[in-house]
Amino acid sequence: MNREDELDGYEVLLCVTGGIACYKSASLVSRLVQAGVGVSVAMTRSARQFVGPLTFQSLSGRQVHTGMWDLTERCDIQHIALADRADLTIIAPATANIIGKIASGIADDLVSTLAMTAVGSCPVLLAPAMNPLMWSNPVVQANLARLVELDFLAVGPNEGWLACRTIGKGRMAEPGEIFAAARKLLLERRPKADAG
Ligand SMILES: Cc1cc2nc3c(=O)[nH]c(=O)nc-3n(C[C@H](O)[C@H](O)[C@H](O)COP(=O)(O)O)c2cc1C
Repeated sequence: MNREDELDGYEVLLCVTGGIACYKSASLVSRLVQAGVGVSVAMTRSARQFVGPLTFQSLSGRQVHTGMWDLTERCDIQHIALADRADLTIIAPATANIIGKIASGIADDLVSTLAMTAVGSCPVLLAPAMNPLMWSNPVVQANLARLVELDFLAVGPNEGWLACRTIGKGRMAEPGEIFAAARKLLLERRPKADAG
């Protein structure tokens, strides 16, 4: 059987930041690709401690973007081009760090710079994931509330078993939940590629 291709023509930029839930984002890429979405992946340095870029490269069929100063085959400026052509940007997992950086207007690596650019280009969906102590930190809560106020979207986190071997709130939404939220957001608009 071929892929479902309901979402053919849509482009998603997936930014992966450094939490243990990175492995679930690999499954999200596969789900999106099976639905026909073109997926470009950018990873922070910390994310690469958890899952190698080769996993995302293999699943997306595209080069993975890891650094602001990497040379690309195309001659465009990647932090602009990637965000500009995306119909949706997903940050999954979204660490406390990236949430804080975006809320503070910091753009000091590829992912935070992409997030800065993406806001003017397409919806941005965050899938926070962290230990319950981090999640309940009022600074993290205030940062996320500020982003939601500014029209960022969030899915999760959920309650459940966490890698730190506790049960609590902070577990990243499941790939299926993130996919469902992404699908809904994508189908609300026509793919940018259709505009030519
Ligand atoms: C084993 C391990 C697991 C971690 N898991 C998380 C996590 O789930 N969520 C989080 O916000 N930070 C987590 N961190 C801390 C982040 O990796 C750290 O704050 C890092 O600076 C995030 O960088 P980034 O946002 O640029 O990827 C973890 C660190 C380690 C060593």
